[in-house]
Amino acid sequence: MSDTMVLTNAFLGGMNNCGQFKIEVIDVIKKNINPCIGCFKCWEKGDGKCIQEDDQNDILEKYVGADIIILSFPLYCYAMPSHLKAVLDRTIPLIQQKMVEVDGAVCHVPLVDFSRKKTIVISGCGFPDWDGNFEGLRIMSKNSFRDPIMIFVPETPMMNASEAKCVAKPLADKFVVAGKEFAENYTLSDDTIKALETPMIPKEDYLAVINRT
Ligand SMILES: Cc1cc2nc3c(=O)[nH]c(=O)nc-3n(C[C@H](O)[C@H](O)[C@H](O)COP(=O)(O)O)c2cc1C
Repeated sequence: MSDTMVLTNAFLGGMNNCGQFKIEVIDVIKKNINPCIGCFKCWEKGDGKCIQEDDQNDILEKYVGADIIILSFPLYCYAMPSHLKAVLDRTIPLIQQKMVEVDGAVCHVPLVDFSRKKTIVISGCGFPDWDGNFEGLRIMSKNSFRDPIMIFVPETPMMNASEAKCVAKPLADKFVVAGKEFAENYTLSDDTIKALETPMIPKEDYLAVINRT
């Protein structure tokens, strides 16, 4: 299983331990999603759909219907992998050409009501913790979603390394507890996020392990 998905599954397990949520996992790599071609036909028609005939319109329907969206992905080149980026680009049928200024930022007027939708962004990465690794993703997430919960985890290849079980399992357990906290409060405290993002081992040790293999 993907390193990031180990953590996301732990989070989902904690979140849904009473079975109160209906969870659907969409593996976008297995979907047929073309890139956005920038035709803006969606804005001309204003029906919330893309004119391209692939799997995206099904995803849009689910996206609109969901109360909570969890985007789970590994960091690729300081950003979101291209498969998922294509899905995100092609959510533009859900906004309108019209723009408004809100709290100093300019955004498009939504076509559907996003005001109660909660977005959680979980991303794992191969580098140890360093300022800047997740900065691009942080800015993109803040600008793309309303008040997203962001959990950015360094050193995630350790989640699938048998020698690292002694530090990987405690981190997965923290994700279970965080999932429960989210289910109760619909938010996560800063302390919880900090605990999830704390490197499993010090940077120097991680680099030594990686460079030995
Ligand atoms: C194409 C590609 C680009 C990557 N770019 C980065 C990067 O910019 N920063 C980073 O820390 N790790 C990067 N990585 C490493 C992955 O984020 C890391 O291996 C992660 O644990 C993979 O998680 P997964 O098993 O969920 O796919 C990259 C990996 C690939 C394949």
